[in-house]
Amino acid sequence: MRKTSVYLPEGLKRSLAEVAARSGLSEAQVVRLAIERELASSDRDRRPPDRPVPGRLVGIGVGPGDPGLVTISALAALRRADRVVAPSTSVDAVGRAEMIVRQAAPDVVVERLVFEMAPDRAARDGAVVRAAERVAACLQSGEEVAFITLGDPLVYSTFAGVSRAVRDLRPGTVVEHQPGIMAFQALAARTGTVLADERQAILVRTALSQDDLEADLHRRDVTLVAYKGGKRLPEVAAAVERAGRSRAAVAGELLGMGGERLGALAEMSAGPASYLATVIVPAEEDGQ
Ligand SMILES: C[S@@+](CC[C@H](N)C(=O)[O-])C[C@H]1O[C@@H](n2cnc3c(N)ncnc32)[C@H](O)[C@@H]1O
Repeated sequence: MRKTSVYLPEGLKRSLAEVAARSGLSEAQVVRLAIERELASSDRDRRPPDRPVPGRLVGIGVGPGDPGLVTISALAALRRADRVVAPSTSVDAVGRAEMIVRQAAPDVVVERLVFEMAPDRAARDGAVVRAAERVAACLQSGEEVAFITLGDPLVYSTFAGVSRAVRDLRPGTVVEHQPGIMAFQALAARTGTVLADERQAILVRTALSQDDLEADLHRRDVTLVAYKGGKRLPEVAAAVERAGRSRAAVAGELLGMGGERLGALAEMSAGPASYLATVIVPAEEDGQ
């Protein structure tokens, strides 16, 4: 890195300080990012559209927990990559996706990218930008970088935000995906729950909003899959019960991992469960 000094008018300096404080980035990082974006966009205007740049980013879904559910294609992509990176809450915390890869492919070395789980949106966005900067630097040297995620990389996954931020930094970056088995598919298989027949639909949502969850429970011809409801499992179960749909509802916690529990939702919901909990409320056969 080389140092450059610039004079900024007072107003710009104040705005810079505000953006830096909100995002958790240093002022220098914000300035660097803004310059990179500006140069990338003028570069994009000059370049023929879609001209690829060096390096390749691959989002790899490693399934919900059981190493046996990592696909053969995902294993091949992990071994082909020059670098495998994984989200983690700190440098010394082995994340869930890394744990799965350790079991499925012990020969693969995983680098951790630290993501703050802060409630503050700006701090979380800052963590995504920092991760994207690291990935972009590796891509710039021509590497193929594999980013591993639980389940599928295109469903409620950090990968979507990271790949967007990488493409902001490096328009033209080639991004590929390796699909992963999702938690609700594993739960359906383990409990023998039919997800849908030809007359029914499947709705995957989070349980973060009780009102939205309750509204969707009225749709009796729809199988409702609720993610991210572990902390509120008793409330989720109570809503399912009130809707008269608890008979066939199931829940699974830490599927394929140590401490796994699964079974009828009514029996699983005496108290809060882990963040890694999934609920399925099957559609009713004669549902209207
Ligand atoms: C950030 S989302 C990741 C979803 C993932 N990309 C997928 O395709 O399944 C996390 C949510 O996925 C569900 N989940 C993921 N792994 C799970 C597991 N092993 N057991 C139960 N639920 C799981 C939980 O609902 C959890 O709150």
